[in-house]
Amino acid sequence: MDKILVLDFGGHYNQLVAKAVRENNVYSEIKPHTEPVWKIKEAGYKGIILTGGQDSVNEEQFAVSRQLFELDIPILGICYGAHLIAHTLGGLVEAGPQEQGKTPLVVDTSSQLFDGLDKHSVCFMSHTEHIKRVPVGFKITARTEECAVAAMENPPSRIYAVQFHPELDQETGRAVIRNFLYNICGCKGEWTIDAFIESTVQSLKEKIGEKRVLCALSGGVDSSVSALLLHKAVGEQLTCIFVDHGLLRKNEPEEVTALFKEKFGGNFIAIDARQRFLSKLKGVTDPEQKRKIIGEEFIRVFEEEAQKIGKVDFLVQGTIYPDIIESGVGNAKLVKSHHNVGGLPEHIDFEEIIEPLRDLFKDEVRKVGLKLGMPEKMVYRQPFPGPGLGVRVLGEITEEKLELLKEADAIFREEIARAELDRSIAQYFAVLTDMKSVGVKDNQRTYEHTVVLRAVNTTDFMTADWAQIPFEVLKSASLRIVNEVKGINRVVYDITPKPPGTIEWE
Ligand code: XMP
Repeated sequence: MDKILVLDFGGHYNQLVAKAVRENNVYSEIKPHTEPVWKIKEAGYKGIILTGGQDSVNEEQFAVSRQLFELDIPILGICYGAHLIAHTLGGLVEAGPQEQGKTPLVVDTSSQLFDGLDKHSVCFMSHTEHIKRVPVGFKITARTEECAVAAMENPPSRIYAVQFHPELDQETGRAVIRNFLYNICGCKGEWTIDAFIESTVQSLKEKIGEKRVLCALSGGVDSSVSALLLHKAVGEQLTCIFVDHGLLRKNEPEEVTALFKEKFGGNFIAIDARQRFLSKLKGVTDPEQKRKIIGEEFIRVFEEEAQKIGKVDFLVQGTIYPDIIESGVGNAKLVKSHHNVGGLPEHIDFEEIIEPLRDLFKDEVRKVGLKLGMPEKMVYRQPFPGPGLGVRVLGEITEEKLELLKEADAIFREEIARAELDRSIAQYFAVLTDMKSVGVKDNQRTYEHTVVLRAVNTTDFMTADWAQIPFEVLKSASLRIVNEVKGINRVVYDITPKPPGTIEWE
């Protein structure tokens, strides 16, 4: 299968570059800019894309070896990547007029990169430096009003560079990426969801043979899709364990159980551990301690059940591609002790881990889920923290507080869905505070809980901004919550970005 290398120089949108390639049915992988040239050569890439980045090539922050340009693999440089090409091959990059956002672009339509585009197109710009002088052998193939070298190329060497960001627009940008992949790299476009399912199922069959596989199902998209793939490959040899810790959202345990019981029959084991978790959490108010208890207890329950099954050969993990991408500029520090409930217990007797989704982005995982018959509601489920509602009930976790939160959260989600915002907001949920305040309902004084509504937009979940959802939606959610949930008399909306806030409250 054809593969494109996305060499990461630390730009914000590098995952979008890899995704834009895959949307053209060509497989792509992201590697840090430090990837050695010999490894790149050995991997047999059909093309290389040098991404954008935050720095100036004149400060020599990230150099690129000249040998990269001698591999005879087609190269496309984007923004900083374009500067690197110019800088390394003898051109000149300078600070110049900034361009931000949609910008009119005049292109040389005889370039293979701009095949099918209009001479007058529009691109997406975001830069403070530009190429002042192109290296010997390059010709200029696009310009904007401010930028004399909006694109340059050296077709005999198969090196192309664009100042604009093709990953950030659907028209010019997508055409440029398509042209690079098909006209210049000669890709065939064999990366499709059907092909992925077929080849994964086939290789899982070969790997597993007659052996036994165990999967911890959390109800989240990744573990559910992993389980469906494994089931397609080895059927009865797969056993799934679903631990209901009582910290899932309204109706979630029932939905997960219904789907998998129907598909997997006796090989789906649902454990009702609600009381067990509640009693461990009794009296605990410290957020980190709660997380620790939930994580450990999950592993205990899972291990106990696994012991009953006996030795398994493989354990399934729902790792996806963004979990394993090594960034070009080092990983940002984790703020909380994320415990991935549904993840990997340490003391289970197994030989090997299987991660069937480790090459996929989230949207691809969802497509696989749909193809395998998963209901849309589960496929488009928003991210949900491993410790579940345990980190959304502030203070001590009690059954009563959990019930209030489940109801309020369900109403908020219904209202977001009714406004058709459920696919556009990255994450939205309710948090039950420990604060009570005075209110009035049916002419009676009330003294009840305050619930917080939280909705954020983000691409990487490392930074986020609060979602500016329409007041009408907030209004109907708020009215419904105070009217329908006895025990909550006040609703507030969280308008804190991350940082300094985090997405979750604990
Ligand atoms: P924060 O609150 O750190 O959350 O801004 C960032 C994203 O991570 C999710 N989250 C978790 N996911 N186990 C998980 O699997 C956890 O312990 C955990 N804590 C937070 C959170 O929902 C958000 O999407």
